[in-house]
Amino acid sequence: MRIAIGSDHAGYQLKEEIKEFLKREGFGVEDCGVYDTQPVDYPDIAFRVAERVGRGEFERAILVCGTGMGMCMAADKVKGIRCAVCWDETSARFARTHNDANILALGARLIGAELAKNIVKVFLSTPFSGEERHQRRIKKIEEYERKIKR
Ligand code: RB5
Repeated sequence: MRIAIGSDHAGYQLKEEIKEFLKREGFGVEDCGVYDTQPVDYPDIAFRVAERVGRGEFERAILVCGTGMGMCMAADKVKGIRCAVCWDETSARFARTHNDANILALGARLIGAELAKNIVKVFLSTPFSGEERHQRRIKKIEEYERKIKR
């Protein structure tokens, strides 16, 4: 599975740790920045990563900022993206089984590196349940997206 990863300055250190963890686990990872702790605006990174996932260049992505929330809000504006902020393994499991989330957002100021890596592990290893009710709900999001995005 090819994975993109990105962060703002607040998420930089955790992004680096997750990137190394993913490499050790055998994933192909592309680091879409940032590459240092100079302050940047999280939407710039979120759009850069989410658009590539939306185009099908990556199956999944991970975005890290201070809380995960800004990255998530921005990424979810991009067509085809279902980004979820997760704070624990359970939220990551539901984001996959119920919502078929394709981007995980993490808050480096809210969770530690070990928990973050466990969340990533669950996010990448849990399949979408495929149950009809969940497919139907996701389809409604996609239909809405088609209606408003020209
Ligand atoms: C940056 O200070 C911070 O606002 C950002 O990383 C993020 O937490 C926004 O949601």
